[in-house]
Amino acid sequence: MNRPRDIVLYPHPVLRQRAKPVASVDASIRGLVEEMFDLMRAEEGAGIAAPQVGEALRIFVTEEREEEGHPARVYINPVLSGFDGQLEEYDEGCLSLPGIRGNIRRPPKAVIEAIDLEGKPFRLESDQFMARVWQHEFDHLEGTLILDRMTVLDRLRVRRLVKDLEADARG
Ligand code: NI
Repeated sequence: MNRPRDIVLYPHPVLRQRAKPVASVDASIRGLVEEMFDLMRAEEGAGIAAPQVGEALRIFVTEEREEEGHPARVYINPVLSGFDGQLEEYDEGCLSLPGIRGNIRRPPKAVIEAIDLEGKPFRLESDQFMARVWQHEFDHLEGTLILDRMTVLDRLRVRRLVKDLEADARG
């Protein structure tokens, strides 16, 4: 049996790679997705991306209990578009940056197109919290972290915590 995966923490280099498209949705992808759901739920996150479990693949999963129509969902090779509305600020955290939060400005509306675990394409729109989760998780597929998007002031505020994570990684 494989050892269960752990969430990959900053500054692991896999978090800075541009993830590769999934060529085919096979048993290994389904197994990976299952582990992603387990870790997301264990940490009570709203989403997790494959690089956060050490795989530079274009996959993320989300689960939104509050927002109607957005139960647990898998997005393979997602494409975002339809950004609309005035930028909104929201205090975001990230499972790969424990203890670190920052105000991130994002458009409130987005459209996502992706394929599901059966290999079927789907399209969804959101003008609620899920639109933000999509953008956060999509960022992970591009190697972008909230550290890159937070204000200069927030970056200064979390500098100590970031340094501690970097020191932990050096051992
Ligand atoms: Ni994150």
